[in-house]
Amino acid sequence: MRRFFNILDNQNKPNKFITIQNTREDIIGELEAIIQYENHIEQTMDPIAQATLKDIANEEKLHVGQLFGLLFSLDPESKEEFEKGLKEFDSINKK
Ligand SMILES: [Fe+2]
Repeated sequence: MRRFFNILDNQNKPNKFITIQNTREDIIGELEAIIQYENHIEQTMDPIAQATLKDIANEEKLHVGQLFGLLFSLDPESKEEFEKGLKEFDSINKK
């Protein structure tokens, strides 16, 4: 996985900060996994492989939700901004 954040640069930071940044990095990892599984689904004609990869990709999507739950509990400001983004999306797209 590409490293957006280097834990070694943050050894003197509070544990909560490191946990928040690690959670964001874990979300990236789950999204990258989804991209890879969905690309592999498109690249195979084997229905068993497609079904297996689809099931795994869905599990990764569930993990994204869990990690956002963790992030929002650690950083309520992120939750507020996320919710503002959803409302902004809805207001733009309901016109
Ligand atoms: Fe996962």
